[in-house]
Amino acid sequence: MGEQLILAVETSCDETSAAVLRGTRELLGHVILSQDVHALYGGVVPEIASRQHLAAIDDVVAGTLREAGVELGDIDIVAATAGPGLIGALLVGVTYAKSLAWSLAKPFVAVHHMEAHLFAAELEHAGAHPPFVGLLVSGGHTLLLWVPEWGRYELLGETRDDAAGESFDKVAKILGLGYPGGPVIQKIAAEGDPNAFAFPRPMLARNQAPGDDDYYTFSFSGLKTSVLTRVRELQANGTLEARRADVAASFQAAVVDVLTSKLIRAVREKECPRVVLGGGVAASRALRDSIAANLAPDGELFAPSIRLATDNAAMIARAAAYHFAKGDVAGLDVTARADLPFPGLVRRGVASAC
Ligand code: KG4
Ligand code: ZN
Repeated sequence: MGEQLILAVETSCDETSAAVLRGTRELLGHVILSQDVHALYGGVVPEIASRQHLAAIDDVVAGTLREAGVELGDIDIVAATAGPGLIGALLVGVTYAKSLAWSLAKPFVAVHHMEAHLFAAELEHAGAHPPFVGLLVSGGHTLLLWVPEWGRYELLGETRDDAAGESFDKVAKILGLGYPGGPVIQKIAAEGDPNAFAFPRPMLARNQAPGDDDYYTFSFSGLKTSVLTRVRELQANGTLEARRADVAASFQAAVVDVLTSKLIRAVREKECPRVVLGGGVAASRALRDSIAANLAPDGELFAPSIRLATDNAAMIARAAAYHFAKGDVAGLDVTARADLPFPGLVRRGVASAC
């Protein structure tokens, strides 16, 4: 045990990815193919995503095995993202991986995409294990979690409308910057003033006591609307071009402020200054810097590199290693689910123990 070879595939959204992991940390091969075509439409087009996964998956897996220097016959476990995500896209990976597992007579492990995002940092930082406060910020989800041990997740807060990454994507569209929004906003925000516009910090001013219902709740759609209103004003008086970087910087500062504040609330309540970041927005330099500054001097922030923050199969393999060790092997009747529930997630009431 421990030296088994896992082949994992990820096809939940617009990255076709495969990875070969030896044991729990040794990444032998990893290929991520991003479907750039969606930039043409300003967002992911599900039908196109499914077709592109189908066209690419065989080559992506073959390339990964080649990079790892192993053959299909060497693989001990096959894993795939079973959800949440786009159903047609998920089905490509799950069906491919199940068929492979069946033909190799090897176990198949079904992985929850967001739980896997939580495992990503641990591939690069040995210390990124529980207990910790986890912040998962992706294009579809915003989850603040207390993680006393792998497999037990207390949901402290989530978003009531848009996800953090989704707000970056929508604001980028409003500013005419293309898709995905996070990286372009980060780039032009570097030339802007984060204090130029006082955008709202949703869900921060009220709900300030730990017992309040929305103490940890996020909301980003009002912030997006506020940016839209301001952009229309700037457009009307012909100054949008000159102020675009200021809008991007001020918007980014508002999101970072809210995420950091709620995260620090959790760190205080759980008396645990150990934080693990995951999901595409974890690639945000502004977010990492803000959290690190607020955790200093004795806190620890574990954030994956950009490649492992955004969607990838390495994190799927890592999560599969954990589940396989627990005996969570899926039958071949398991299928993809767009709304797969987060395994081990409870609403409230897990004691802190850091
Ligand atoms: O985890 P991910 O690759 O896919 C999902 O599971 O959704 O996250 C993608 C999201 C997109 O919304 C993208 O705009 C955002 O991550 N993102 C960023 C940055 N890089 C990617 N958001 C803010 N700053 C970034 N540097
Ligand atoms: Zn993701």
